[in-house]
Amino acid sequence: PQHVGILAIEVYFPTHFVTQTALEQQTGAARGKFTEGLGQIEMAFCTDREDATSMGLTAFKQLLESYSVPFSQIGRLEVGSESGEDRGKSIKSTLMSLFAGSGNTDVEGVDCLNACYGSTAALQNAVAWVESSNWDGRLAVVVASDIAIYPPGPARPTGGAGAVAMLIGPNAPLALEPGMCATHMEHTYDFYKPHGVFPVVNGRSSIACYLGALEKCYARLCRKAASLGRQAGQSNTGLSLSSLATKAASLAGLASPETQQDPSQQQPAKPSGTAAAEGSSRSATGSSVNLVAEPESAEVVGLSSMDEAPICGSPGFGLGDVDYIVMHAPYHKIVRKGFARLLPIDRLSQEMGAQAMSEAQILNREASVVHGARREVSSKPSNASKEMERGLLLASSDAFEAKVQPSMLLSQHCGNMYAASLYASLASLLEARGSELEGKRVMLFAYGSGLASSAFTLVGRPTSSAFTLQRLAGQVDLRARLAARLEANPADFDAALQRLTDRFGAHSFMPEAPLADLLPGTFYLHSIDEQYKRKYCRK
Ligand code: ACO
Repeated sequence: PQHVGILAIEVYFPTHFVTQTALEQQTGAARGKFTEGLGQIEMAFCTDREDATSMGLTAFKQLLESYSVPFSQIGRLEVGSESGEDRGKSIKSTLMSLFAGSGNTDVEGVDCLNACYGSTAALQNAVAWVESSNWDGRLAVVVASDIAIYPPGPARPTGGAGAVAMLIGPNAPLALEPGMCATHMEHTYDFYKPHGVFPVVNGRSSIACYLGALEKCYARLCRKAASLGRQAGQSNTGLSLSSLATKAASLAGLASPETQQDPSQQQPAKPSGTAAAEGSSRSATGSSVNLVAEPESAEVVGLSSMDEAPICGSPGFGLGDVDYIVMHAPYHKIVRKGFARLLPIDRLSQEMGAQAMSEAQILNREASVVHGARREVSSKPSNASKEMERGLLLASSDAFEAKVQPSMLLSQHCGNMYAASLYASLASLLEARGSELEGKRVMLFAYGSGLASSAFTLVGRPTSSAFTLQRLAGQVDLRARLAARLEANPADFDAALQRLTDRFGAHSFMPEAPLADLLPGTFYLHSIDEQYKRKYCRK
């Protein structure tokens, strides 16, 4: 099978939302902190009638109905979620109830879990199955569904909820580019869920981990792409990214290449008693080393600091070869800052190109940067670092509007959908650009705390099947669906979260929220019996 990728996509988000302006007022936050500071507009939330399973059921059923795909045609179904209600039973197993009428139980796949990354692991599995010798000609489905909720405090406005279902198969209008995936995985405690309804989150650390992972994945993807000869030649948006990068560097006061130390002369990071530094130096040298335990007082925070030199990609591939960028979106500002950080990587790559660095030299350089970026979580960005960030944000603003902003609709209006976030952003890009995506390359960045991250690419293709870019764009209908939602006030939102908290792990009850608020076709939680069995119905 060729051109394996996304044949169709369906999105579901809850009917209720609060505005970030109302949240600012209610919580006493400074005016503009959530709207300008975080860049968020509205946030979706679930009542006790909905959970990750019900939203997954809704998105999956609507996907097959919208595209008239029979359940008998599905040979693999995987779910990416970190909001499963059961630690043993997968959400996928509940979704199997939808196959009952078809008699099809020959459906591979279960749930994939690693914070917001599970959906991407599920997509990778689905694509690999279609490309494998085990493929039986049927289609795969990936469902991503999550509820992001935080206790009262700074993280609360970065919540959200939603689900995405994607049909995977050959001859897709959005096909994955073979070989174009770069990954960075690392052990961190930036965000995790050891107990209770809310995560334990170290906000500053999670931001650092996200940005560091993005830099690493992007630089690696550039090197892979260049070695595969994937250049597009020029930016289709007509923006010269190399000149932007140079402008950004001068605005931000980056040192000129002449004044920088020749990285080929740098020493590889010395094993310092930290696992990731060991791992990096192992990559650089090819020799095996023993893992040494992380000292308890130190925390791995990724490549967060603007004081650190950017890591190196490849002069042969850069932002000019990518038409659109879709990123996991915890909130708008982090995506905006993440994009700005890619510019110096491109610039450095171009400058290093002349020096013809070997792969080992590049890895050595990365190792020393990773080593240098390990620092206490409490350390604040320096003034110079903030100044440099401001310069990069300014210099990258036109490119951000052209390449990234078209994918931000749902994340700004629904908030973080965790595993569904990245693919909700892809749906937003589809609605914004539709058949214009034909011949365009889209880079996706997946991030899940803990941490797992990948950057990979899709290309928009003309197809003669039932699955065309134009049809996908029309089907998602996001703006109309957003406009049909019900605005709640922050007190209703607090009450809904309080009910979820009170009922967490409980049995023998029926949810109270009115069914009238749900749209026809929505699955909802009917009841949980004395044996904790959950019953779902469809409105
Ligand atoms: N007007 C405009 N901007 C303002 C205002 C105001 N009145 N007040 C503050 N700001 C700005 C700040 O300057 C800051 O901008 P900067 O980042 O450019 O410096 C921004 O608003 C945020 O303010 P902070 O004080 O830094 O935010 P706070 O520490 O209160 O919380 C955080 C932000 C850490 C993101 C928190 O919401 C959180 O923990 N969220 C959950 C974790 C998360 O989403 N992590 C991302 C990756 S992991 C994942 O996907 C879960």
